[in-house]
Amino acid sequence: MAHQLCVIPGDGVGQEVIPSAVEVLKHVLPDLETVTAEAGWDCFQRIGNALPDDTKAKIGACGAALFGAVSSPSKKVEGYRSPIIQMRQHFDLFANLRPTQGLQLPGSRLNVTLKPIDLLIVRENTQGLYVQREYQRGEEAVAERVITTAASTRIGVLALEMAQARRKQLTIVHKANILPLTDGTFRDAVRAAAVQFPEVKINEVLVDTAAMLLASKPEQFDVVVTTNLFGDILSDLASVWGGGMGVAPSLNIGQHVAIAEPVHGSAPDIAGKGIANPSGAILAAALLLRYHWNEPELALRIESAVSTAIANGARTPDMGPASDGKATTRHVVDAVIEALNAG
Ligand code: NAI
Ligand code: MG
Repeated sequence: MAHQLCVIPGDGVGQEVIPSAVEVLKHVLPDLETVTAEAGWDCFQRIGNALPDDTKAKIGACGAALFGAVSSPSKKVEGYRSPIIQMRQHFDLFANLRPTQGLQLPGSRLNVTLKPIDLLIVRENTQGLYVQREYQRGEEAVAERVITTAASTRIGVLALEMAQARRKQLTIVHKANILPLTDGTFRDAVRAAAVQFPEVKINEVLVDTAAMLLASKPEQFDVVVTTNLFGDILSDLASVWGGGMGVAPSLNIGQHVAIAEPVHGSAPDIAGKGIANPSGAILAAALLLRYHWNEPELALRIESAVSTAIANGARTPDMGPASDGKATTRHVVDAVIEALNAG
């Protein structure tokens, strides 16, 4: 059966990077059938719903989606619910995979190029503070942070499977010294699951130390498993080693459905200028190939082509002064396709 993909560009630069990623994906997967769907803030303003039922139905029917980004209000807006969190909950996308590969930039002044980084953050995707139970109790503004043994075991097993297939090292990141009940539950559940994976070496690091180590010695990490908010923050930090937010991909996975998305948001500061970096979206499509469609060779072809394109100068301005990035979105897509054809 043909591969089916629901394409949801969303807001801002999502409209630029998602068509780019689909173009690259179709290059390696000519039988790909796509349907387009809407979600996000523009959609909410037009029809009063940030994730229409029609979009959910299309994602469910395809089983796979490529999602761009949404803009979200930073104040409470009546009737608005984050479409990303809705999708994660609706399809029970319990894991968010966020890999970082060390960027190689020949001639760059960045010493980041010298570190052999290949790490994978496995972020629990349904609980923690993202249950969004915030309320006022007199003077106190309260946010509930929910952690269950079942959800922690489930993410732990997935992270252990990933570690088993890689360098057999798993780091549990938590803050159980301050939050012994919630983070203690998380840590204990992952440790209990690890008994079934005797080859995987388990290590624990407190989240603040993990931030310091990801900034100073990222090469020492292989697979990291952590709770929702810590995973969100630490993966942005780790993305710097791979070339920044414009390059970082992610994959939300559950039992039946997978939704790939670049880690970045709608980037309103550069939207519409034709300079958004499509690499994160393209690499997110590669994650769908590897983990959802079981096409690891095709995933690797895309990943290698992105690396080659970046090394050959297909660098957008976000990649920093050290990269001398002047490329446009179009230039990067053309360079990736050229590298695919050459490879
Ligand atoms: P952002 O990720 O949109 O932008 C942060 C910085 O990275 C900006 O300087 C931006 O220009 C740059 N950047 C991001 N993506 C880029 C790309 N593809 N190419 C080049 N540069 C890129 O995060 P920010 O500014 O905090 O949030 C903007 C909006 O996006 C907000 O409404 C926020 O709620 C939303 N957001 C949505 C996310 C999602 O849809 N998954 C994730 C994060 C933020
Ligand atoms: Mg984030």
